[in-house]
Amino acid sequence: CCVLCLCCVLIVLCLCCVLIVFCLSHCRYALGMEDGRIKDDDITASSQWYETTGPQYARSEGDGAWCPEGQLEPSDSQYLQVDLGRLTFLTIVGTQGRYARSSGNEFARAYRLNYSRDGLLWKSWRNRLGNPVMEGNKNAYASVINDLHPPIVTRHVRLIPVTKLSTTVCMRVELYGCPWDDGLISYAAPEGQLMMPPGYPIASLNDSTYDGTRERRRLSGGLGQLTDGVIGLDDFLLTRQYHVWPGYDYLGWRNDSLGTQGFVEMEFVFDRQRNFTSMKVHSNNMFSRGVKIFSSVSCQFKPHLIANWEAEPVAFKTVLDDRNPSARYVTVPLNRRAAKSLRCRFYFADVWMMFSEISFQSVKKIKSRTRLPMSLVLISANPSASDSPDVSNTPVLIGCLVTIILLLVIIIFLILWCQYDCKVLEKVKRHNPTLKSVEAKGRLFRCFYFEREFGMMSANSCKERRSYWCLYLSVFVIMLVLNMNYFCPAACGGGYAEPDVTQCTPHQCFHSNAPHYAETDIVRLQGVTGSNMYAVPALTVDSLTRKDISAAEFPRQQLIFREKLGEGQFGEVHLCEAEGLPEFLGEGSPLPDRDGHSVLVAVKQLRADATSQARNDFLKEIKIMSRLNDPNIIRLLCVCVSSDPLCMVTEYMENGDLNMFLSQREIESTLTYANNIPSVSLSDLLHMSVQISSGMKYLASLNFVHRDLATRNCLLDRRLTIKIADFGMSRNLYSSDYYRIQGRAVLPIRWMAWESILLGKFTTASDVWAFGVTLWEIFTLCKEQPYSLLSDEQVIENTGEFFRNQGRQIFLYGPPLCPPSLFELMMRCWSRDIPDRPTFEGLYQALRPHVSQ
Ligand SMILES: *[C@@H]1O[C@H](CO)[C@@H](O)[C@H](O)[C@H]1NC(C)=O
Ligand SMILES: *[C@@H]1O[C@H](CO)[C@@H](O)[C@H](O)[C@H]1NC(C)=O
Ligand SMILES: *[C@@H]1O[C@H](CO)[C@@H](O)[C@H](O)[C@H]1NC(C)=O
Ligand SMILES: *[C@@H]1O[C@H](CO)[C@@H](O)[C@H](O)[C@H]1NC(C)=O
Repeated sequence: CCVLCLCCVLIVLCLCCVLIVFCLSHCRYALGMEDGRIKDDDITASSQWYETTGPQYARSEGDGAWCPEGQLEPSDSQYLQVDLGRLTFLTIVGTQGRYARSSGNEFARAYRLNYSRDGLLWKSWRNRLGNPVMEGNKNAYASVINDLHPPIVTRHVRLIPVTKLSTTVCMRVELYGCPWDDGLISYAAPEGQLMMPPGYPIASLNDSTYDGTRERRRLSGGLGQLTDGVIGLDDFLLTRQYHVWPGYDYLGWRNDSLGTQGFVEMEFVFDRQRNFTSMKVHSNNMFSRGVKIFSSVSCQFKPHLIANWEAEPVAFKTVLDDRNPSARYVTVPLNRRAAKSLRCRFYFADVWMMFSEISFQSVKKIKSRTRLPMSLVLISANPSASDSPDVSNTPVLIGCLVTIILLLVIIIFLILWCQYDCKVLEKVKRHNPTLKSVEAKGRLFRCFYFEREFGMMSANSCKERRSYWCLYLSVFVIMLVLNMNYFCPAACGGGYAEPDVTQCTPHQCFHSNAPHYAETDIVRLQGVTGSNMYAVPALTVDSLTRKDISAAEFPRQQLIFREKLGEGQFGEVHLCEAEGLPEFLGEGSPLPDRDGHSVLVAVKQLRADATSQARNDFLKEIKIMSRLNDPNIIRLLCVCVSSDPLCMVTEYMENGDLNMFLSQREIESTLTYANNIPSVSLSDLLHMSVQISSGMKYLASLNFVHRDLATRNCLLDRRLTIKIADFGMSRNLYSSDYYRIQGRAVLPIRWMAWESILLGKFTTASDVWAFGVTLWEIFTLCKEQPYSLLSDEQVIENTGEFFRNQGRQIFLYGPPLCPPSLFELMMRCWSRDIPDRPTFEGLYQALRPHVSQ
């Protein structure tokens, strides 16, 4: 029974946590009517009845309420007006009547909302079906909560009670939402159109919640579906709303309907001048129906409302995706240009273009908050909700949790107490057969009082009693769970459905499902000289001594500096000439290309100011490398560790790294041949892939995990042999490939398997994943970063989709150069489940035949 109780408590706790996460990650904060953050002066009304029912009493606390003067007639338009002080994304309105310790009996059965962003032009709110009236209260005390569908962006709100009969009404009000940090106050666009294809339902792609003017087939001066926080589904015919028409979530245009210009022009106006970093456009990509994301966009900027458009636009070309039909956010960098107004032209890539949401990111003026922890950063794709997590509700939430836990503890205590009494009773029974009298006295058995209350007197034995109690407890817990909404009403603004955990954002899943990132692992990743080395789990630093290092000590004075190749946090890599190295290594040792007596080598050197941790890592790196011996792995030739600074000497790879090499080349064709453009052939690319798989096969056979396989870590020698390395030689060049977590570590997230990102788990199987990405790089000739359309946060979000595996994850597309069978191989590398991924041996066997063809 106790185990059962414990389980119940845990279940309740978990549900509460999910609820809290759900609340905090959504824009549902009380805006301060009740707790006084909205000042009396900001609450006004068209009229009031007595002094004691003025607008400032419209807060949910206390006895008072706002009551308009006299009886409210059906034709009346009395209102309570609230100035929120700033643009706000308003999601919920809660109302109550005048209770006044049960002496009041006035409330509003229904009401309407008017709102205004500037305080001058008022608009009336309508729900998605066009109905402006919301249901209000049914009695004077209970609070009724209305979710606004659609939510509104506004600063001023008017609540207008409506009535069918002449009555007196009074209201108390609370508003819920969050600050509108986007700052967008209006957008203008061509009106969306009807899609009438034969054999499909008609999709109406208009902006049905737009609150500006519609003139000559153009929308202007308002906000609508592009800012309502609802993103469309992959199939634009399906929607997230009930009782609406197909295509509801999207605003869409046909390419030939707007003249022959081939683009859609939109204008955006903001509350003040901002320096824009990026724009995110959520766009459909159902290419099978002729819908694609835009092919390019060009944005012009205007610093003040009365100014000319600046001549120089920011242009951005997207990478079109013919493989993955999911709707997606396209991030358009805006280069920190300052503007109050923006004009963007989105160019068609196909017959249709459909957007469901547009948001803007700009430089924040004051960095008042410290950086958000990683898990919070993850939800920033949902800008309105995450930018300013106001945690004013946390005390309420904690209070409500504590109450529930206390209740459960009390019940468990009661059960134990009764058990004790029951045992005593049975003992007495055994010694004293005249039980009746004992029971009649009853004083000893305090518990009977409770049991009688619960109607359990029919129980005879302790065991039976116990099962009754358990039954009651279970029922209680189930009731509790079912009534979650009533237990924590204020916490989230109340009566909405249970959160759907399968729909959770990575932010929530981080809290509810997946374990946290192992921090120690992250720090380890960074390595010493800015390079990550092969990780060996069982290696401890203490055990490292000179004798562990099998490479020979080379006389330092015989290294002649030529040039600096790169540098990392604690070290540098130099190109040096090593005099007498062939003799030093002895005959039979395969040597790099020699130049007479001396040999060119790369020397990685630890700086004098390196920390002892870095020093240990450097020695560890040497130890591991000295054990590796494979034609496709960079070779450690010798070391200088008998005195400072510590050095390691490796082969010098003349052709640099594979990323640089490929990105400067085109695929071989008659054109490249005729114009003498540097080129590679498809069989070169396949040969490279085989070599990398061969090197990785070797590492895997030694159970070494590389952790950072990518083209930037594959080096090429003079004969274009690939050797896998991990030198931070050019790390600075590739800094955008790494994701910085609060300055603690840099992670190559675009190459990492989902389990490495979410669970901090690095295995040979996660190397296989990275190998798939490396192959992809090779066959795009490194012209593009993996998932270049996604921001770092979105990449991590996508990782969550891989984890959930509900078909919403975005895969890399198949490069045009890549044979289909090879793309299948890549896709297998990105299998969610580790057993489904190929091994390096398998990859090598699968790739090798391609080369001989
Ligand atoms: C509400 O807004 C509508 C315009 O949408 C206007 O006609 C009406 O007078 C407004 N009512 C109040 C009380 O502001
Ligand atoms: C949008 O299209 C739907 C369906 O055709 C129509 O019912 C609705 O009135 C339209 N909305 C506007 C604002 O034009
Ligand atoms: C619209 O798209 C079709 C199909 O891609 C294309 O043939 C046509 O030229 C496009 N029209 C315009 C005006 O861009
Ligand atoms: C915005 O950019 C301008 C230069 O274009 C700069 O002077 C200004 O300080 C920037 N403002 C912010 C908030 O970064």
